[in-house]
Amino acid sequence: MAYWDWDESLEIGVPVIDMQHRQIVDYINMLDDAMRSHDQEEVRFVIEQLIEYTMNHFSFEETMMEHGNYPFIDTHKQVHVNFTKRIHNYHDRFKRGDDVTRALMGDLKVWLENHIKRDDLDYSPYVKNIGKGGWVSAAMKRFFG
Ligand SMILES: [Fe+2]
Repeated sequence: MAYWDWDESLEIGVPVIDMQHRQIVDYINMLDDAMRSHDQEEVRFVIEQLIEYTMNHFSFEETMMEHGNYPFIDTHKQVHVNFTKRIHNYHDRFKRGDDVTRALMGDLKVWLENHIKRDDLDYSPYVKNIGKGGWVSAAMKRFFG
């Protein structure tokens, strides 16, 4: 069984964002698998992918909010900054050899679920129509390569 099953209560109705959130959930599940198999090299690899993807996701989201003239963007960005610090703290501890995997997974799950259902849902009406005109695919290329 997966550590975290995606369900539609996590959807904010903006397909490109829902897809990215789903990818983060997938990474968290991959991390759970790697942890269970006691494959430290795989754990390290997934943690790095997960962190990199989450950072790119935050940047993508911020650019999208800007593009949609979301009025509370500064507050939202600050929430990302605070959580980014926490993630980097986990990463530093991991690199020093601390066993933080389970704590990181749990923290990310709780944080992401609350953040999606409250903060991300709040900007969704402002960005719903942005996809038209190729903005989304251009931005995807820019942030995720
Ligand atoms: Fe966000």
